[in-house]
Parts: sequence; C-alpha cells; structure tokens
Amino acid sequence: MNLLIMGLPGAGKGTQAAKIVETFGVVHISTGDMFRAAIANQTEMGTLAKSYIDKGELVPDEVTNGIVKDRLAESDIAEKGFLLDGYPRTIEQAHALDDTLKELNIKLDGVINIDVNPESLVERLSGRIINRKTGETYHKVFNPPTDYNEEDYYQREDDKPETVKRRLDVNIAQGEPILDHYRKLGLVSDIQGNQEISDVFADVKKAISSL
Ligand code: AP5
Ligand code: MG
Repeated sequence: MNLLIMGLPGAGKGTQAAKIVETFGVVHISTGDMFRAAIANQTEMGTLAKSYIDKGELVPDEVTNGIVKDRLAESDIAEKGFLLDGYPRTIEQAHALDDTLKELNIKLDGVINIDVNPESLVERLSGRIINRKTGETYHKVFNPPTDYNEEDYYQREDDKPETVKRRLDVNIAQGEPILDHYRKLGLVSDIQGNQEISDVFADVKKAISSL
C-alpha cells in the first residue's frame, strides 16, 4: 500500500501516521522529520533546511525532491509500501513525485486528506510536546502523556506563534492545487480532522481499508 497523508500544519498528519504505520505496516516518510534529523546531525543539507524552517518557509523543491526520491528507491519501500507525510507540498513537488513513482514503477493507492478548521491549529501547535527519548508526539491538553515530566519533553522550534502563522499562510496557499491534482485521479479520501484523535483514526482506517 502506497499512501500520502496531507493536511495543514498541526492537522494531525504525524499523529495519524504513527497509527497507520502500526496498523498497516507501511514505512513512514516525513520530510519534516528528515530535515529535523539533518539539522540535529549538523549536515550541510540540515543547515540549509534550517534557514527556511525557522522562518516557516518551504525548503527549496530541488533539495526536497532529491531526498524523497533517494528514500523511495530504498528496498524496504518496495517490500512494505510507504506513507509520505508532508510531501508533496507544492504542485511542482507533486509533478516530481509522479515522475519518481513512474521511474521506480510504483503505484500510488490513495491520498488521506485531513481536513481541519485552521483556527484550531495554533492551539494544537503551541501545546505540542515531543518525547526526547521516543520521539512520540503528544499535546499538553488534547493528548497528554500518562507520566508527564517536563524535562523529558521538548517543543519544536517552529511552533513559536510568529512562525506558526507563516507556516499556515504558506501551506494554505500551496495546498489546493495539489489536492485538485489528486482529486482528478480519484485518489483523495477526505477525513474530518476536528474530532478526537481516535475518531479521526477510525475514519482513516475505514478509508484505507476500502482502497
Ligand atoms: P512538517 O514537520 O511536515 O510540519 P507541518 O506540515 O507544519 O506539520 P506538523 O508536523 O507541524 O503537524 P502534523 O500535521 O504532523 O500534526 P501532529 O500530528 O504533530 O514540516 C516542517 C517544516 O519543514 C515546514 O514548515 C518546511 O519548512 C519544511 N518542510 C517539510 N516538508 C517540506 C516539503 N515537502 N517541502 C518543503 N519544505 C518542507 O499534531 C499537532 C498537535 O496536535 C500535537 O500536539 C497532537 O498531539 C495534536 N493533535 C493531533 N490530532 C489532534 C486531534 N484530532 N485533536 C486534538 N489535538 C490533536
Ligand atoms: Mg508532523
């Protein structure tokens, strides 16, 4: 099964991706996570990505298309399938992905679009906390960890209110043409994202199971 998960910053892509991976056994490929790993490892690409991410801007397409193409060509993808999270994010990236999949002889099975009210997102992002050891994402109010201990968790650098605003503007502007592209191919399942996390997943599971 080869899938995309789309949605605005904070829509719950990563949260649902973890559950999809657990249930369907696909490989999670998050471009945001790949950039953050590169930043942590202080690679040249990480330094470049950081200069965009910190401002809430998109990393240039050439860089992003390259890392996704390399990852999709690895052998575990052919074996298990993939769930791409946070990519494509521009219509040019969508076209590059079409070419890459064709070249690798991979068929895209579906696009999960988590539809949310943008007004709910600032609160979600400002309360997001990530476990330092496991990398798991929680929310202080909406999805608190059972054994919360402040020093075991951190907040993302780009979850500051001024950066969040720019991220939302950029993603709202870019998102519609990408969804239109996949709607024309009949691949999109729209999921109501303003529900409890478990209810969102029940809908996601139903949509994937019927592909
Ligand atoms: P990326 O890491 O992809 O961030 P994003 O798209 O802004 O999305 P988030 O990861 O912030 O949100 P999410 O939808 O995963 O939500 P989550 O599940 O964590 O990208 C970061 C940056 O990298 C970009 O700004 C860009 O600079 C660069 N980049 C990445 N990909 C790129 C690309 N393709 N091209 C160019 N640049 C790229 O949930 C959020 C919070 O809400 C959590 O606290 C969670 O617990 C909570 N929550 C989740 N679901 C619910 C619910 N149903 N109800 C209540 N709370 C919920
Ligand atoms: Mg995410």
